[in-house]
Amino acid sequence: MTLEYSDLIAARYSVRAYRPDPVEDEKLQCILQAARLAPTAANRQPIQLVVLHTAGREAEIGRIYRRPWFVQAPLLIAVCAISSQAWVRESDRFNARLIDAAIVADHLILAATNLGLGTCWIAAFDVEAARNMLGLPAEVEPVIFTPLGYPADSPGPKIRKPLDELVRYDHW
Ligand SMILES: Cc1cc2nc3c(=O)[nH]c(=O)nc-3n(C[C@H](O)[C@H](O)[C@H](O)COP(=O)(O)O)c2cc1C
Repeated sequence: MTLEYSDLIAARYSVRAYRPDPVEDEKLQCILQAARLAPTAANRQPIQLVVLHTAGREAEIGRIYRRPWFVQAPLLIAVCAISSQAWVRESDRFNARLIDAAIVADHLILAATNLGLGTCWIAAFDVEAARNMLGLPAEVEPVIFTPLGYPADSPGPKIRKPLDELVRYDHW
C-alpha cells in the first residue's frame, strides 16, 4: 500500500511506542534510497547515516536518549553531518549542513510512514553518548536520531497554527 502525498504527510506522526517486530530489509533499503535522493545544497551530500540494531544493546544505546521507547524499535537511524563537506554561503559563511540533514531525515521519515513504519525525530539526545556509541570521528556531527519500527501507539490530534498565523503575503 502506498499513500497519496497529502495522506502521507497527514499520516506521519511522532511514534513513541514500538512493536518488537523486525523491519524487513527490503523496506529498510527503500527508506535508505529515499534518504539518498534528498536534495542537498550544491549537491554536496555532506550527510552520513548510521543504522543501529538495538537488540541486545538496549542499555548501552539507551544512554543516548533516556526514554524506554528510544530502544523499543529494532532499528535506530542517526543522521550525521560533516560540516567541512557542506556548502557554505559566501556572503555570511552560513553552513547548510543542518538543512541538508533535516531534508535527508524528512525523506527517510516520510518513506518509512509510506511503508507503515513509525519514526520520531529526536534532537534532545546526549551528544557525547551518541559520539561514543557510534564511534564518530571529530568532524562528524550527529544531528537527528529516529527509531524505525512498527508503531505500537496511535496518532494524537495534529496541533498546528492556522495558515493565517503561518503565512504572510507580499510583505512581513
Ligand atoms: C527537529 C526536531 C527535533 C525533535 N526532537 C524531539 C525529541 O528530542 N524528542 C521527542 O520526543 N520528540 C522530538 N521531536 C518531535 C516533535 O515533538 C513533534 O514532531 C511535534 O510535537 C509534532 O508532533 P508530530 O510529529 O506527532 O506531528 C522533534 C521534532 C523535530 C522536527
